[in-house]
Amino acid sequence: MTNAWIYVCPEQRLEPERGVAALVEGDAVAVFRTYDGTLFAIDNKDPISGASVLSRGIVGSRGEAPIVASPMHKQAFDLRTGECLDMPGVSVRTWPIRLRDGAVEIGVTT
Ligand code: FES
Repeated sequence: MTNAWIYVCPEQRLEPERGVAALVEGDAVAVFRTYDGTLFAIDNKDPISGASVLSRGIVGSRGEAPIVASPMHKQAFDLRTGECLDMPGVSVRTWPIRLRDGAVEIGVTT
């Protein structure tokens, strides 16, 4: 089991609170940067509608939780855990993400 880091985009491409969709080894990943500079990566696919849309969701917060609201039916997903805050038991996968030399990278397990 190796952890590899896959290049996604240059740091400047990630505007605060505007998601970017990336294909990472066949999986669609939604990448976000919040206003405080924290990076998050979750599945792009909304598990409720099945549509690959979470990167186009509205980023915000609910209490302590940084969230993205699905553009489909507005369910909020916690960007830290992938958990759907409006539908217990529903969640999306989260991915390791980092900045390295001005590049955004996502960690995969191979
Ligand atoms: S059925 Fe699509 S987000 Fe709710």
